[in-house]
Amino acid sequence: MSQNSIAVDPVSSVQTKMKREVASASRTDRIPDSARVTSVTHWTGSLFSFKVERPASLRFRSGEFVMLGLMGDPNPKTGKSNPLLRAYSIASPAWEEELEFYSIKVPDGPLTSKLQHLSPGDSIILRPRPVGTLILDALLPGKRLWLLATGTGIAPFASVIRDPETYEKFDSVVLMHTCREVKELEYGKQLVAEVMEHEFLAEIVTDRLIYYPSTTREVSRNQGRITDSLSSSSFYKSLHVDPLNAESDRCMICGSLGFNEDIQALLQDKGLVEGSGNDPGTYVVEKAFVE
Ligand code: A2P
Repeated sequence: MSQNSIAVDPVSSVQTKMKREVASASRTDRIPDSARVTSVTHWTGSLFSFKVERPASLRFRSGEFVMLGLMGDPNPKTGKSNPLLRAYSIASPAWEEELEFYSIKVPDGPLTSKLQHLSPGDSIILRPRPVGTLILDALLPGKRLWLLATGTGIAPFASVIRDPETYEKFDSVVLMHTCREVKELEYGKQLVAEVMEHEFLAEIVTDRLIYYPSTTREVSRNQGRITDSLSSSSFYKSLHVDPLNAESDRCMICGSLGFNEDIQALLQDKGLVEGSGNDPGTYVVEKAFVE
């Protein structure tokens, strides 16, 4: 049930009490760094995305994250609440007027169990200091960029694939996204479809952006883990691309801890080295943040 649907139905004292509690939980306007929610989309029972108004002063590089959240429950003794903040990759491109975020709903997660009930008009706390390693500046020049994501790890790449600078720096971009089930791929599928039809981006990305969604626990067109695909010659043949190599390929990784470790081992075997903003390399990595 959304917070708004509680708020407009004050028929019982219980609901009125809930209404007050919800109102107090989302009353972040008095806090500096608040941002107003403009839309919320629920993709599955456990995945949602939302957009907020972009603070006028907020500048970021595609692939970076910010800390965002809500006020936590008041301390029963003092009545005081503290901000409950988590790192969230900015999924929108730097030229967009709004900021977009893509999130999992962690069962009993302190923040996402509240955040999933956001409605347009609510406010969240958004610390306007973007940081992160999944940035183009952390990669040495190359020809092809691989964006390797599992689950909500696609969020920073939703920004990177919509940034014209990505295509100035690389001839082609391969976005690989693996989830357990087909429905979890929907956010990425719609994102890529929009990019392909976008009035300015379409021309830039045509024949240069390759999208490879796959599932591991449900039958779909592409099946299997990214690590297995990248180790298989038939994968490259089916995409009509050259195998990944350290000379001309650059990679960005964002997924679960296990995925990040395994894919780094695979890339290091092929001769790629980790980079950072201060010391660019041939791949960069960031954890998809969950509670
Ligand atoms: P699998 O279903 O074979 O575990 P999760 O929801 O656990 O974060 O997983 C999201 C996706 O990432 C799933 O498709 C999962 O595949 C895949 N995955 C998880 N761990 C790894 C790993 N170490 N290497 C490659 N893929 C992984």
